Amino acid sequence: MNKETSLILPEHIAFIMDGNGRWAVKKRLQRSAGHKAGAEALDKMISYAYSIGIKNITFYAFSTENWSRPADEVAALMSILTKWLSIMIKRFNENAGEVYKNTKVNFIGDTGALSLLQRKKIADIEKKSIETENRMTLNLAVNYGARAEITRAVNKFITENPGKKISENDISQNLYTAGQPDPDLIIRTGGEMRLSNFLLWQASYSEYYSTPVLWPDFDEKCLDEAILEYNKRTRKFGGLSS
Ligand code: IPE
Ligand code: IPE
Ligand code: MG
Repeated sequence: MNKETSLILPEHIAFIMDGNGRWAVKKRLQRSAGHKAGAEALDKMISYAYSIGIKNITFYAFSTENWSRPADEVAALMSILTKWLSIMIKRFNENAGEVYKNTKVNFIGDTGALSLLQRKKIADIEKKSIETENRMTLNLAVNYGARAEITRAVNKFITENPGKKISENDISQNLYTAGQPDPDLIIRTGGEMRLSNFLLWQASYSEYYSTPVLWPDFDEKCLDEAILEYNKRTRKFGGLSS
């Protein structure tokens, strides 16, 4: 993307990384090969989004409902996640490129359900990434479900504020994304037209973009196209367009 253009960059882009399985089947590979390729596409997208100046980025990696997949697929996904976490730690330790010097990583979802090893790696990444200049915030949604997130937020609030009525702002401030702007643009690969329990609260006024491109094939050009399309939208937030 040409930085000189007068395009408006979304402040926060969220991705539903879908289509890994279909990508693998099309190539007569195991579904797990699609997830591996998906992790590579994720890394590429993190670096590219950073390079064009995106400030907040969220990736849906594993949903609370994805546990219902066959045990061997869940195991493959968890093993890919563990490897990816180790690679991230290494990148942060070695300051491997601008993006890792300047990105704060925030895991969203019930990470308590992950293995002890994964939780330790997640804590390590979050700790390391606090020391960066935080030019970009990267949310990784793992064991994430928006209904669970909202329920957790409400329970947290009523436990801390017994007897008090809860407001919209109270809910926002108790979500995993507290303090961050809501996503301006939600991109779903793989062609489906649904949110699949992703950011239900935060997506109230997000622009939605669905592309048939399968996640492992989603590249820099595809993101440019989505941002171009975003620039054609008129956001009204319930008011009248100017
Ligand atoms: C997205 O790809 C990755 C996860 C949900 C973990 P899928 O595995 O859902 O791929 P399709 O939709 O079956 O092609
Ligand atoms: C959404 O994809 C979840 C992630 C991308 C992690 P799914 O493949 O799980 O969604 P559905 O089942 O098609 O709604
Ligand atoms: Mg899918």
